[in-house]
Amino acid sequence: AHYVGIGMEPQTPQAPMQEEPFLGFFRGDVHRELASHREQRPVTPLRLPDGGTGWLLTRHDDVRKALADPRLVKDGQLSPLGLRPQLPPDIYAATAQNMLTVDPPDHTRLRRLIQGAFTARRIGRLVPAITATADHLIDELSTPGSHDLISKFAFPLPITVICELLGVPADDRGSFMEAASIIASGPNRIRELPGAMIGMIGYIRDLVGNKRRHPGDDLISAMIAMRDSGEQLTEDELVSTVYLLLLAGYDTTGNLIGNGAWLLLDDPTRWSQIRADPDQLPQVIEEVLRYESPVQLGTHRKATEDVTYGDQVIPAGSTVLLSILAAHRDAGQYTDPDAFDMGRAWSPHLAFGHGIHHCLGAPLARLEARIAFTRLAARLPGLRLAEGFTPRWRASALMHGLEELPVTTS
Ligand code: HEM
Repeated sequence: AHYVGIGMEPQTPQAPMQEEPFLGFFRGDVHRELASHREQRPVTPLRLPDGGTGWLLTRHDDVRKALADPRLVKDGQLSPLGLRPQLPPDIYAATAQNMLTVDPPDHTRLRRLIQGAFTARRIGRLVPAITATADHLIDELSTPGSHDLISKFAFPLPITVICELLGVPADDRGSFMEAASIIASGPNRIRELPGAMIGMIGYIRDLVGNKRRHPGDDLISAMIAMRDSGEQLTEDELVSTVYLLLLAGYDTTGNLIGNGAWLLLDDPTRWSQIRADPDQLPQVIEEVLRYESPVQLGTHRKATEDVTYGDQVIPAGSTVLLSILAAHRDAGQYTDPDAFDMGRAWSPHLAFGHGIHHCLGAPLARLEARIAFTRLAARLPGLRLAEGFTPRWRASALMHGLEELPVTTS
C-alpha cells in the first residue's frame, strides 16, 4: 500500500508530515489554512498532540462520505485529541457512554431511546422559555455602552435552554453554567478541566437521584422512567447522555448565535434586511451554518481497516479528522463558496453531521437561533458592531466560535 504512516517516509517529498499539531493549527486564518490543504492535499497527514497520526479530510465529498462510513468508528472519546484529561475511571465511564461516542448496536439502542424522549412536542414547549430568556438577556444589553454579545447573549441563551430542557433547578444553574463553560473552553482553561468534569458528573448523578425521588416534566425524568421501566439504559449511559446533551447543545448553539450575529451585523444592509423581513431567517441561518459552521471538525473517527479517500490509503488504526468547515468552502460543492449569501438557494450542508450520528438537537438549535435573531432585531434596532472590530476565533480543536463580539445597542 502507498500511504504515509507513523515513522514512514511521506509519499511526496514536497508534502512532509505537519509537525505542528492541531491546537496551533486552528488559531490563525483558519479558512485560508484549510483552503490550502483542500487545494494541495485534501487528505492531509498530521502529527497529533499525542504523537499519533491523524488524517485530515477537507473536501465536501470526502467529509460527507466519512461521516457515514461504517468502517470509520468512534473510539469512545468525546473530547478531541490531546485534550484528554486524567480522570478517575468511574468518571471517565460516565462521560463516554453516550450515543455520540459509541457505534452500533449500542448507538442504535441509545439513539432510539433518547429520541423517544426528545420529541418535537417537548422542543415546541420550550418556545416561551427561549423567548423569555432572550428578552431577559436583551434587557441587560439595553443599557448604554459596549457589551460583549458572546458572553452576555450567545452563550447564556443555550445553556439556560438546556437547563430548562433537562430540568436543572434554578438555584443550581449558576455553578452548572460555570462548570459547563470551563468544559466548553477547551485549551483556554485546560487546567480547570478535570475538576470541572468531575464536579459536573457528580452533580448530574445527584440530579438524577433527586429526579428519581421527585420526577418532573423534564427530559431527565423521562429518561429515568425509561431506565427504571426496564428499558436497556444503564446508569452510566443515563448520566453520560445528560453530559452529552449539555455539551452538544451549549458551545455549538452559542457559536451559531455568535457567528450569525457577527455576520449579520458586519454589513448594516444585512441587519436592515433581517429587521424588515425576519421571515427570511430560517434560510439565512442555514447560510450561517454553512459559512461559519459552529463545529469545525466532526468528532474524530478511527479506521477499522485500510480505507481509501481520494488517492490516499488511510491505514487501519489511524485517526480520521473530518473538517466540516473546510467542506463548506469547497467550490466543488458550492457556487462562490467564500461569499456569505443570504439569498443562497438551499444546498445540503454538513453543519449537523451526516449519517447515523446526525445531530439529534438540530431542530432545537435552529429554533433557538431563529428566536435569538428575531428578538434582537425587534428589540434592538440600533444594534451595531463596535468600531474597528476584527474577529478572533477561540482556540479550540473542535469548535469554531468567536472569542468576543463587542456591540453597542443605542
Ligand atoms: C451530534 C452539530 C446543537 C445534541 C452532532 C454532530 C454534529 C452536531 C456535527 C455529529 C457529530 C459526529 O458525527 O461525530 C451541532 C450544531 C449545533 C448542535 C452545529 C448547533 C448549532 C445541538 C443541540 C443538542 C445537540 C442543541 C441537544 C440539546 C446532539 C446529539 C448528538 C449530536 C445528542 C449525537 C447524535 C448521535 O450520535 O447519534 N451535533 N449540534 N446538538 N448533537 Fe448536535
